[in-house]
Amino acid sequence: MPAEIEVNPLLTTPTLRLEPQVAAHAPAVLAALSDPRIYLYIPGTPPTDAEALRRRFAHQESRRSPDGRELWLNWIVYSGQTVLGTVQATVHVAQRTADVAYVFAPGAWGKGHAAEAMRAMLGFLHAGLGVEEFVAHLDTRNGASRRLAQRLGFVQTDLILGADHFKGSVSDEYVYKLSAAAFSASSPTPPLDFPPAGL
Ligand SMILES: CC(C)(COP(=O)(O)OP(=O)(O)OC[C@H]1O[C@@H](n2cnc3c(N)ncnc32)[C@H](O)[C@@H]1OP(=O)(O)O)[C@@H](O)C(=O)NCCC(=O)NCCS
Repeated sequence: MPAEIEVNPLLTTPTLRLEPQVAAHAPAVLAALSDPRIYLYIPGTPPTDAEALRRRFAHQESRRSPDGRELWLNWIVYSGQTVLGTVQATVHVAQRTADVAYVFAPGAWGKGHAAEAMRAMLGFLHAGLGVEEFVAHLDTRNGASRRLAQRLGFVQTDLILGADHFKGSVSDEYVYKLSAAAFSASSPTPPLDFPPAGL
């Protein structure tokens, strides 16, 4: 995996702009992702403290785990000046795999934005960083997330009973996987623009 290239670049699609997350995004993200409906099937809660969020984002600007084995990549998804959501990837460098996740504001649901942003990120992870397999963990109650994963081509490979416990309930999880080869075959035209990798 290339060490020199920009690992978390600006990505653009026909309708969206995926900005590499930085501390300065904190107030806009706090405002956009404060609806409790977003957090029904994920462990987090709506952000309420802009300064705490800014510190977390500043910490994540390293883009790497302290041991260097993982890349921690986060993009803020914009349509014009409006924050729609975020897409994230933890890249396991040696394995060439990435755990991926997505969170969008209710006002952006049902419009295909999440799928478009995810295709852009998956395309970059493969073409730019050499990731060969994508993995997503979904709470079994999260129908919207499951539909999105399936639309992207992910297939269920595992069911983990009692994977987590939050908000007073046990969370069972589906594991979904997608090979980069299958993703590329289903995305015949380049889905995004990103700066040359400079390999
Ligand atoms: C999971 C989540 C991102 C899915 O978002 P979503 O809006 O369903 O996904 P998309 O933006 O891709 O939209 C998909 C729907 O829009 C429709 N759509 C696609 N393109 C469209 C367009 N141009 N115009 C209108 N609708 C469109 C699709 O047909 C699809 O509908 P369907 O589900 O009935 O098939 C969203 O529910 C969310 O953020 N939830 C809270 C956080 C969360 O749970 N994250 C996942 C953790 S695992």
